[in-house]
Amino acid sequence: MDKIRVRGGTRLTGTVEISGSKNAALAIMAGALLVDGKVTLHNVPRIGDIHTMMELLNDLGVSAQFVDRTSVIIDASNVLYLEAPYEVVRRMRASFNVMGPLLARFGFARVPVPGGCDIGARPVNFHIDGLRRLGANLHTEHGVYTAEARKLTGTSIYMDFQSAGATQHLMTAACLANGVTVIENCAAEPEVVDLAEFLNSLGAHIEGAGTTTIKVTGVERLTGGEHTIIPDRQEAGTFAVAGAITRGDIVMRGAVVEHMRPVVNKLEEAGIEVSADSRSMKVRATDRPRAVDIKTNPHPAFPTDLQQPFAALLSVADGTSVITENVYESRFRYVNELNRMGANIRVSARNAVITGVDRLTGCPVAATDLRAGAALICAALAAEGETEMVGVEHIERGYEDLVRKLRGLGAAIERCE
Ligand code: EPU
Repeated sequence: MDKIRVRGGTRLTGTVEISGSKNAALAIMAGALLVDGKVTLHNVPRIGDIHTMMELLNDLGVSAQFVDRTSVIIDASNVLYLEAPYEVVRRMRASFNVMGPLLARFGFARVPVPGGCDIGARPVNFHIDGLRRLGANLHTEHGVYTAEARKLTGTSIYMDFQSAGATQHLMTAACLANGVTVIENCAAEPEVVDLAEFLNSLGAHIEGAGTTTIKVTGVERLTGGEHTIIPDRQEAGTFAVAGAITRGDIVMRGAVVEHMRPVVNKLEEAGIEVSADSRSMKVRATDRPRAVDIKTNPHPAFPTDLQQPFAALLSVADGTSVITENVYESRFRYVNELNRMGANIRVSARNAVITGVDRLTGCPVAATDLRAGAALICAALAAEGETEMVGVEHIERGYEDLVRKLRGLGAAIERCE
């Protein structure tokens, strides 16, 4: 079984390169299905989820491959199949977002119903309701959604919750609809803005991305083009925690501070020095962090994807912190593992009450999902002694070269079998 082994206690210093955003790249790669032509994407991270999305595109008969270290060419001129295999959708929920573009361009798509996962039930009702409002006829049978529409038609959509995935999915589908679509109470995440910029550069007409109302004026077709994916704010936030928890001093080259305001705010509240320029962000910590309270919510509030690494940081803070998770109903499963390392965290419904302890101690732990794995690695970097983490495949879904990058900052970390 693959493991990551960490010997804690080294102060991290130096510079780390932030990779391209996983969640922007996944949405953009699905969006490339709208295009009758070639799309070149730069700054694509080489991580498990991106390889899974490529596999899915290949399964549809679309050519998608890395042509150098971070550039991918997708050519969806010849889509051969309009059905996503269960084997892929089961592994990665973001696969569901191929339905809208296939439907918009070819009038038909079949995609399995994605199941729940380790962080919550994660239904797709906003996606389905929105596609129906755009005129699609959708039904499920034998665990597969079949969607049909002669031509999608512009409409108004109001989402009950600012879902990132549903916003990206519906905005993409609406690009080729007849007329105007307005999506209200939509997500304002930087990854939504990146997708909109990508689609607009190919001829789409999207306004308002980055706010909670998006207007899409349908166009006949999109043409090929080129786009550079934004840096991954969750990766940058994870390194910020790794730097802070080891009382280190690190520069994250590529991190975009405008995407990370709520995170910077909490780091500063915890007593960590943060500085930034247009190309990088730096964190420096000399002392134990102070306790802070965090409430997760859609952007521009504190991102749920960083509550787990922050819980590791706050587990060694001076005082008691409360994290309230408002996005997912069960994103606290990693807490038991942190407690086994000596943390004092009590979970009640959507709240985790973290009473800071002086030190954590290393032990064997298991990651249950991507960010849980990141939290355990951060904890291990500060813990006394050795930690061995299984569940490495979760980390590798979303962090490019995490072990190598941490070693570059001085961490005693290795991947072993
Ligand atoms: N939701 C519904 N119905 C829907 C869609 C969502 O009830 O139709 C609920 C979800 O169950 C969840 C909440 O709304 O409780 C928010 O879900 P959202 O749709 O915003 O999440 P997502 O699009 O499925 C993306 C990221 C997640 C990130 C969330 C929130 C990708 C591939 N995934 O998921 O990333 O946590 O947005 O920001 O973009 C991660 O990177 O670790 C990760 C899980």
